[in-house]
This record gives sequence, structure tokens and C-alpha cells, in this order.
Amino acid sequence: MLLWPPVNVRSVLSANARGRRARDFAYLLRRWKTAPSERERRHAGLTLLGLAAEVLVPGYIVTEDLKRWFEDNSFLEDLRQLGDEDRRSADRKFLLRELLKLVANLPGDTAEAGVFEGASSWLICDFLGGTGKTHYAIDSFEGLSSPTPIDGSYWRAGDLASSERIVHSRLEPFGAVLCKGWIPEAFTHLPETQFCFVHIDVDLYQPTLDSMEYFYPRMVTGGVVVCDDFGFTSCPGARQAVTEYMQRRPEPVLHHPTGQGIVVKR
Ligand SMILES: C[S@@+](CC[C@H](N)C(=O)[O-])C[C@H]1O[C@@H](n2cnc3c(N)ncnc32)[C@H](O)[C@@H]1O
Repeated sequence: MLLWPPVNVRSVLSANARGRRARDFAYLLRRWKTAPSERERRHAGLTLLGLAAEVLVPGYIVTEDLKRWFEDNSFLEDLRQLGDEDRRSADRKFLLRELLKLVANLPGDTAEAGVFEGASSWLICDFLGGTGKTHYAIDSFEGLSSPTPIDGSYWRAGDLASSERIVHSRLEPFGAVLCKGWIPEAFTHLPETQFCFVHIDVDLYQPTLDSMEYFYPRMVTGGVVVCDDFGFTSCPGARQAVTEYMQRRPEPVLHHPTGQGIVVKR
């Protein structure tokens, strides 16, 4: 991490003793308050965040500042439309939107398995508006199905239940098709079509595997599948399902630092 003027960040970050950490914190706070320029203030602020994270959320990595997407006004406007609660997943939303550039000129429709309140589906529909694609949004609207031992202990059946009405009002202007039901039974209500972009976000092993099995053979060449849960320790089953399914396929799964797993169909 850069700090200007230079301080021995390694010694600051590895300090174990509480008193030492408190002194480091106080020192950096002073530096943050009295920084003569915005650049130094941000550097001190980010180092403070790193120290706070070490105590409050051990293992959490505070990454770099000054990324251009933090200032991408059209994306920030999208986030505002979706509500502030989506800021924490802003990096994933941003990447999702970027990936849509790969498929805008491909044939095929789009789908999301696991819609919750429709934020990602809204981004997909908004970005691809005018391309003539139909978006299919599939969810139980009763939350997660029952986790099995492979899913670990983070999730409970019924978590993340949402309102079909909210999703309907968000997606209705785009002519999206809502498909209410449990995966995989819900897929039987979809028309036979091809897909250029599918977002799988159901957190658990079985519905993730069911989604891969349904959608992957229906992807057009160059089509993109994003598994939102692939890189999260809270969703070991989802990772297992994608890994297992893709083991039999030539395409690699790209594990993005946002936590998403991305596959481009050859
Ligand atoms: C993490 S949320 C989806 C978030 C959404 N993709 C977004 O970006 O805002 C997971 C969703 O998966 C749905 N879900 C989980 N298991 C399901 C299953 N077996 N059948 C149908 N829906 C399921 C839940 O109802 C929940 O809405």
C-alpha cells in the first residue's frame, strides 16, 4: 500500500500489541486530519481502513484506491436507481455490466436464476435494452431451497425470500418474463430458446448444478455464464457445482477477485 510521505506500513500492519496498534491508529488519524493535500489524506485514510479492517474484519483485504469505475457516472446512476444497499456488491455489479458488452451483438436471450429483488436482472435488461433479447428471471420468491451438507452452515432454507411484486415492477418496463417456481422444475416453463448471457445466483449446490445443466447446453458460442457465488466461502456448494460441471468441458472457469466465476462458451 502506498503512503505519502512514506511510513513503514509493514510494521504498522503487523503490529500485534494493542497499545502499539492504538498508537499507530492515532498517528495515522492525525496524519489524515492534518494532511496537506487530498492525495496524502486519501493515502492515510486507506491505511487507517486497513488497520480498522485488521481488527474488525480479520482477513478482509482493503484494496487500492483511485479506480476509475468509482467515478463512472452512468454506473453510479444505475446504482442509485437500485438503492444504496447495493453499494457493497458494486464491484460485482460493475463487472456484470462490463461482461454484457461481450454479448450485446450475439444472438440469444438472457436469464437470471436467482433474482431476489431484481437488481442484476434490471442491469441486464437496462444494458441490453433495444437489442431484441428477451430476459427470463427465475426465482422461487420463497428464498433458498434446503441446503445440504455440501453447502456448509451459512445459509438456511427460506433465506433471501423476496417480493415478486417488487421484481415485477422493476422488470415489467423491459418486457422481461418472470418465472416463479423452484429450480429445476421452474425451467420446464421456459420456452425452448438459446442464451447469450446467464447469471446464476442461487447460493447452493443443487440449484446451481441444475442451472448449469439446463443453461450451458443452450448457450450460443461466445455466450457468457456468470456464477455470482463461485468465489465466496459462504457458498462452497455453488463452487463445487460449477467446478464439477465444468470438469467435463474444455472452457476454464475464471475466478474473478470480485467472487464471480465466469465462463465463456466456446
Ligand atoms: C442471492 S439471491 C439473488 C440475488 C440477485 N441475483 C441479485 O443480483 O440481486 C438468491 C436467490 O435465489 C433464489 N433461490 C435459491 N434457491 C432457489 C431454488 N432452488 N429455486 C428457485 N429460486 C431459488 C432465492 O429465492 C433468492 O432470491
